[in-house]
Formats: sequence, C-alpha cells, structure tokens
Amino acid sequence: MAETKDKEILDEVIYSYTATSSSIEEENKLLKDTVGKLKEELDRFKMPPLMVCEVLNVFPKEAIIRIPNGNQFYVNISAECEKLKAGDMVLTDQKNLAIIRRVPVAKKFNIEKFVIVEKPKMSWSEVGGLSDQIREVQEVVELPLKKPELFKKVGISPPRGILLHGPPGTGKTSLAKAVAASTNSTFIEIVGSELVQKFIGEGAKMVAEIFELARSKAPSIVFIDELDALAAKRVEIGTSGEREVNRTFMQLLAEIDGFEPLDNVKIIGATNRKDILDPAIIRPGRLDRLIQIPLPNQEAIGDIFRIHCKNMSLDKDVKHEQLAKLMDGFSGAEIKAVCTEAGYFAIRKNKTKVTSKDLKGAIEKVKRIEKEESDDYMGMFG
Ligand SMILES: Nc1ncnc2c1ncn2[C@@H]1O[C@H](COP(=O)(O)OP(=O)(O)OP(=O)(O)O)[C@@H](O)[C@H]1O
Ligand SMILES: [Mg+2]
Repeated sequence: MAETKDKEILDEVIYSYTATSSSIEEENKLLKDTVGKLKEELDRFKMPPLMVCEVLNVFPKEAIIRIPNGNQFYVNISAECEKLKAGDMVLTDQKNLAIIRRVPVAKKFNIEKFVIVEKPKMSWSEVGGLSDQIREVQEVVELPLKKPELFKKVGISPPRGILLHGPPGTGKTSLAKAVAASTNSTFIEIVGSELVQKFIGEGAKMVAEIFELARSKAPSIVFIDELDALAAKRVEIGTSGEREVNRTFMQLLAEIDGFEPLDNVKIIGATNRKDILDPAIIRPGRLDRLIQIPLPNQEAIGDIFRIHCKNMSLDKDVKHEQLAKLMDGFSGAEIKAVCTEAGYFAIRKNKTKVTSKDLKGAIEKVKRIEKEESDDYMGMFG
C-alpha cells in the first residue's frame, strides 16, 4: 500500500520536472531570439548615418552630387548602386561621400484617395450673374477643349490655364465645375493649403502625380483651390517648411510648362488673395488669363436667389425682387445659406411652404453671423 503511494508521488515529481525543463528550454529559446534581435538593432544604431544628396550628373563609375548645403562633389559610386540618373536622391558615406545606395522609393500614392476626382453635373444655368465671366471661361477653357482644330487653323495658342480670383463664396468653384461638366472633363480638385500641410515632404511628388492622373484621364480640368497657399510670393526662403512649399510650387510651374497649350488638360486656379501671388504663376504661358469674380450686384443677387429657390416650395407672398434688395452685399454662398435657413424655419414650424417671413428671418440671421465673424476677425488685430 505504502509502496504504491510512494510510486505515485515519484511519478508526479518526474512529470512536473519534465514539464518544467521543457518550459525552461522554451524560455531559453525565446530569450536567445530576443537577444539576437536586440544585437541586430544595436548594430543598426551603431551604423554611421548616411547623407542624403542629389545626383546632378552621372559617369560610368563616378557622379557629381550636390550635398544638402549646396556644395557639389565628384564622387565614387558603389558597385551595388546601378542605373543612377541625374535627379535621383542617393545616400552617401559622410566621410568620402561615396554613393552607397539610392534613397528607397516610397510606395506610389494612390493619388485618387487624396484628391477629389469626379465628373461634375453642374450646368451653366446654376451659376447666377457672372455672365461676362462665364463667356470668358467658355472662350478660353471650353472652346479649345471642344474645338482644338479651330485654334490650329487660326494659328493661336489658347492659355494653358486661368486664374479665378475674388472674395469667398462668389462662385469660383462652381464655375470650374460647370466648365468641367460642359466639356465632359474629369474634374480633379486639389486644395493648396492641404497640399502644403498634409503631405509634408511629398508635395512636389503629389503635384507630379496629380498631373500624371490628369493626363491619363484627359480631357481634364485640374482645379487648384487656395492657390495662394502654394504660390505666395516669398520674401526669403528660410525655414525648411518654406523650402518645401517652394519645391511644390516649382513642381507646379514645371508641370504647367510641361504640356502643350492644346493638350486636353486645363488648369484653373482660384484664390481670394491675388495680391500675394508670386508673379511667376501668372506669367504669360501659365495661368495668364485672370478672371475676376466679384460679389454679385443687385441683378445678380436676384438671379442667384432665384436659382437657389428654384426647387423650394414657396408661399405666394414671396417677392424675389424685394427680398433681393435686403441681401445687398451678400455673396452667392450667403444667398444660398438664406434659402437653406428659411427652409429650416419652415420645417421647425411644421410647414411645407417657405414664406416671405421665413426668408426675411433667414436674411437677418445670415447678416448676424457675418457680422459676428467680421467682429472676430477684427478682434484678432484689435
Ligand atoms: N454666382 C453664383 N451662382 C449660384 N450659386 C452660387 C454663386 N456663387 C456662389 N454660389 C453658391 O455658394 C456656394 C459656394 O460657391 P463656390 O464654392 O462656387 O464659391 P467660391 O468662390 O469657390 O468660394 P471660396 O472662395 O470660399 O472657395 C455654392 O454652393 C454655390 O451654389
Ligand atoms: Mg471654392
């Protein structure tokens, strides 16, 4: 009896010993792995940093490079680094500046994820007032896209692009969309400030890829909103951020210069700050047709108001002309806001028709908001 009991205990001890030893072995292996990885990491940290340089000229075994401070050197190319070409970015040894390898190329963006690409459905009739501006856009953007042969016959080159400038909310984006729709073009919209802030270090590459996309989806309109964020004149280029914006801008100029005026890609820039634009962007051959988009006058206010009321169910008492007078100084965007607000007033009162009173209330509200905003703005400098 006692013997069986002893054996049982012994078995248990042996069992637990084997279990422990195998778990120790496992742990040992894990630790060895970790140590190996840490050693590898340490070796990488010990490696001297390589310098990023630009290749200017390539010979069979040597090259001329420019180091970040602007100095140029004639250096060796390591055997591993093949098929270099001028313009490549490379990594060089800090001491002898030999080219070790190319800067690994980041994966190509899926550019369509970052810019708006669409076929807009906006028609000219949805843009109120602005008849002179519409005619001009039709002449310089629509006509060359629709009838390039006309320009060839007469022997003139249409502008590669135009610049729409004027206060916010006056219809610049709408005009660009309308011309894309009327020419059945792909509409590619980029926003200058986003290009500068979101894609730090990649702005120039983005610009190049946007134009590649535009060419592949031609006919296309590349619409650059807030162009001033990219193309403001700079007094001096000091910080690296400014250099980066400048590189993006240079790439934009290169792209604009890079295609023929009769290619079916057109560029439309928009800005509220034409005064701060670098003159390089509006030089002949670039966005050299400047079209001013002003705030609407009385007649235009009436037109825009009618456009935005078109699909609303209005009470009989609504007199467009009379209401238009109350909106003096409003932008198109504000007129649209009046219609939306008035609609909300009606909904809140459980009605399906919008009355003159709703519209008047909405006009007052939009005026108030505008005043508060301009007070805030003045306060910033106050
Ligand atoms: N002339 C106009 N005719 C009809 N609607 C207009 C007009 N101007 C502005 N709107 C309306 O106001 C809104 C803003 O217009 P849009 O985006 O074209 O202005 P924008 O000039 O591009 O403004 P921003 O400078 O702020 O970008 C749109 O929804 C548009 O319907
Ligand atoms: Mg706009």
